[in-house]
Amino acid sequence: MIRIGMVGAGGIARSHADAIKSNPDCSLVCIADINLEKAEQIARDHGAHVFSDYKNFDCASMDAVILNLPHYLHREASIYFLERGLGVLCEKPMACTVEECDEMIAAAEKSGARLAIGHVQKYYTALERVREIIEEKRFGALVMIHETRTKDYVPGRPAWFLSKQMAGGGIAMNLGAHSLDRILYTTGLEVEEIYGITANPITGHDVETAAQFLLKLSGGVSASVTLCGTHIPATHESIYYFTDGIVKIVGDELLIYEDGRFVSHGGTRDLFGRQLTEFLKLLRGEESTVCTPAYGREIIRLLKKII
Ligand SMILES: NC(=O)c1ccc[n+]([C@@H]2O[C@H](COP(=O)([O-])OP(=O)(O)OC[C@H]3O[C@@H](n4cnc5c(N)ncnc54)[C@H](O)[C@@H]3O)[C@@H](O)[C@H]2O)c1
Repeated sequence: MIRIGMVGAGGIARSHADAIKSNPDCSLVCIADINLEKAEQIARDHGAHVFSDYKNFDCASMDAVILNLPHYLHREASIYFLERGLGVLCEKPMACTVEECDEMIAAAEKSGARLAIGHVQKYYTALERVREIIEEKRFGALVMIHETRTKDYVPGRPAWFLSKQMAGGGIAMNLGAHSLDRILYTTGLEVEEIYGITANPITGHDVETAAQFLLKLSGGVSASVTLCGTHIPATHESIYYFTDGIVKIVGDELLIYEDGRFVSHGGTRDLFGRQLTEFLKLLRGEESTVCTPAYGREIIRLLKKII
């Protein structure tokens, strides 16, 4: 039984906690949040110990931690646990700067403890299928990709997400990290060049609330990303254009253009459960698909050319 601690009991914590609850190979033994009430709400279902300061965890009685913290705390919390020999699954984006990523990687290398980054989108079955379609050249060669994500970015969002110092950036940093992950994961290609424009149509915050990226990928493939955080509905669509076909992902559903129309090929999304299973494999020293810190760092390197 792998004993896991969690730091940060905010928006995404429940997804990780539910995944732990459903997995017979691990348990949540402790959880910390500076807001104790939030930690208590999650701990209740697990019988986990609750702390306001993660430095009070009994690290000797644990195997790993999952970090669901504001981006500016990823570096310091990861290093704290890696230095104590614990495996770390740190939420995306890995950190606010490439230098912080390097410090995290160095701490993992020094201690020998495992570090993984929570780029969870690869566990959408629709993305896995698109990756296979590209690999098999089922519709010929991939030519270009367009990804659009819209969301009313500001209302209800914790304040730290809207501070460049605490979040490293706005919609490009937060949702753009997912977009770049989707493109890199499905294609397996390198980014040779990246250009980006950020804007702040929703004023009063010091982070961007809209962004567009243009990427030149290896093999002559191109990709564009549109992220718009104005007062518009949430949508998410990725379109893959091949020499002999078009494939889309809308939400978590795969759609393939067949006989003159887009036909649904379904899609499931046990993202956090599947990611946790892979993280446990990593902790056991088995082959694992969970995102490596080098991959997390590459996403930050690319984002920092834009933000
Ligand atoms: N993988 C995904 O799909 C996904 C989705 C949402 C968020 N995220 C990522 O998860 C991370 C957390 O995001 P969120 O939406 O849960 O944010 P949130 O603000 O809802 O939660 C963060 C929590 O951390 C707590 N916290 C702050 N400082 C702390 C400290 N020093 N010690 C202990 N707790 C502290 C806060 O009180 C808060 O409860 C971010 O990296 C974010 O980008 C990932």
